[in-house]
Amino acid sequence: MTLTSPPPAETAPPPTAAAKIFNYPRNAWYVAAWDHEVTGKRPLARTIAGVPLALWRNSEGRAVALADACWHRLAPLSKGKILGDELQCPYHGLRYNATGRCTGMPAQETINPSAVVPSYPVVERYRYVWVWVGDPDLADPTTVPDMYQMDDPAWAGDGETIHADCNYQLVLDNLMDLTHEEFVHSSSIGQEELSEAEFDVTHEGNTVTVTRWMRDITPPPFWLKNMRDKFPGFEGKVDRWQIITFEAPSTIRIDVGVAKAGTGAPEGDRSQGVNGYVMNTITPETDRTCHYFWAFMRNYCLNSQTITTQLRQGVRGVFGEDEDMLRAQQRAIEANPEHEFYSLNIDAGGMWVRQILERMLAAEGRPSSAPALGQGV
Ligand code: FES
Ligand SMILES: [Fe+2]
Repeated sequence: MTLTSPPPAETAPPPTAAAKIFNYPRNAWYVAAWDHEVTGKRPLARTIAGVPLALWRNSEGRAVALADACWHRLAPLSKGKILGDELQCPYHGLRYNATGRCTGMPAQETINPSAVVPSYPVVERYRYVWVWVGDPDLADPTTVPDMYQMDDPAWAGDGETIHADCNYQLVLDNLMDLTHEEFVHSSSIGQEELSEAEFDVTHEGNTVTVTRWMRDITPPPFWLKNMRDKFPGFEGKVDRWQIITFEAPSTIRIDVGVAKAGTGAPEGDRSQGVNGYVMNTITPETDRTCHYFWAFMRNYCLNSQTITTQLRQGVRGVFGEDEDMLRAQQRAIEANPEHEFYSLNIDAGGMWVRQILERMLAAEGRPSSAPALGQGV
């Protein structure tokens, strides 16, 4: 279905409930790390959806995710050593293979058959290592969210990770409504036409799309620079677009760009413009923190490392402004546990996201939220 701003009352999603600390699905693929972070040299400790993991590569280069607690006395395996196809506990030397089975014990030849630690399904795709910490029988690699621009030769770019001190859904809210750019990012990508422009929200299955076009506007500094990278000396007005696509549980691709005004970009001809994809995937760490993996991919000037670096630095500055706001928002939520969330028309996309997540959580038999001062979810 399609909604146009403002959404008609009868088709608008129901008001958001008194949700303070939002829960996260477990039966889902989450990015645990960039591919280059997981090596055969030393394990990486990272908590994904509440589960502490030791991530490493075996001798074939395959990424492995084991629970980060030894069967014997629970020493963290992430502090251990990688010995070919085995990970050795740093405390008394028990060794584990990629399936989590113990393959060697100190000073005894018989290995206790119960000596196993959980090994979680892993998929490497789009420059990321994805893990599934829920029911392993449901881990279908075909359901990894689509982020093909990350490693498609028609696209170039790079990104980073933000360890954000907030619940993951606050980042999803932030990305589903970009009118905040006018206020949070006024020196780079913000402009008042953002909140004046009409927008359209559609949803289907586990995706939600928010589309916004701003026609015949003055390009903000970030986009003027990018236009001049492709069209040296460019002056004048542009048509600007933002097409935000959410895919459950927490991946958001934002098709962004500008083109010379009136050259047909809204109708599909983007040849007179520049186009990028802001790739975002947000992995809950705890109920109050998350790993926010982002990248900016572009389809012009593909061979310019200078532009890749400049874009990464530019986006890092912009997202640093979001990070400050999200941290402050999380603190305020925890300081005001009785205060409800209220929703505006601009929140229509985020509210559909929340509905999809509530559906996933209900399927797992778990609540969608817990009180801000509760013991987590
Ligand atoms: S705690 Fe790992 S071998 Fe003892
Ligand atoms: Fe932002």
